[in-house]
Amino acid sequence: MKISIIGGGGRVGSCAAFALQCGGIVSEIQLIDANQAMAEGEALDLLHGAAFAADQRIYAGDYERAADSDLFLITAGLRRQPDESRLDLINRNVALFVQILESIKQAGMRRDAIVFVVSNPVDILTQLAGQRLGLPWEQVIGLGTMLDSTRFSSLIADALKVAPTQVKALTLGEHGDSMVPIWSSASINGLPLTEYPGCSPAFQSQIFARTRASGAEVIKRKGGAGYAVGIAIRDVIHAIALDQQRVLPVSSLVQGSYGIKDVCFSVPTVVGRRGVQEQVAMKLWPKEQAGLQQSARSLKETMIKVQL
Ligand code: 2OP
Repeated sequence: MKISIIGGGGRVGSCAAFALQCGGIVSEIQLIDANQAMAEGEALDLLHGAAFAADQRIYAGDYERAADSDLFLITAGLRRQPDESRLDLINRNVALFVQILESIKQAGMRRDAIVFVVSNPVDILTQLAGQRLGLPWEQVIGLGTMLDSTRFSSLIADALKVAPTQVKALTLGEHGDSMVPIWSSASINGLPLTEYPGCSPAFQSQIFARTRASGAEVIKRKGGAGYAVGIAIRDVIHAIALDQQRVLPVSSLVQGSYGIKDVCFSVPTVVGRRGVQEQVAMKLWPKEQAGLQQSARSLKETMIKVQL
């Protein structure tokens, strides 16, 4: 499977490329970036590790060489300032994102290609990509709350001193301020997490608040996320490459789940080789469903402001 990473010279794009190299599943990774030297440098650094990592073609390229890609990963964008919400980014990033979409269209893309958006505000830009590229909605996916869900699970595990891979805790809705913690299905090795010693209501509020603020917490210290977002991206791309039918909290155009439509955000979604196979409106607590409705309203209000 050929992946073209637009923004591959940046932190998120290069960490995604490294996660895909370590995963060894995709066959070709092309890095594209406005900063060609950075794309070449990241590609060279990855290539140097290939002999001990995986048999893949890794190179810096351009939109013309991306025309036969199976998947376009878009990570390019200006980074959020620590005190700036993702949605505040929107006007600075929309113009850049529209240029990227035009470059993809002009160079040509396969009608069965998947477009996978990570740039922020990811839910808004995922919807924009769907409107501009004219692909079936199932083929346009955003990272959504994948990163928030791995942060949520990892922070819970760290605080409770349990094995991180045994903690499954989702956030749904917007990848942003209105994201919703889904305690109703949170588990540790299949057991209800809310029953685990130490997982009190106070603990739940504190750990979710930290999860929600994690993007800004990382930005303040190192300028922006890299490793965790790379792993989250890897999981989505592998679910597509291997047609895994995994249920993931990715962002796509919601088709009526929980009474919500005409907005892109994260609901439980079956992901396979064609992108979105199905959105599954699994039972949530009433307050969780109310949180999703609020998240949808927040995103729709922002979408109205965007000069498309
Ligand atoms: C974050 O939350 C990059 O939006 C991403 O760090």
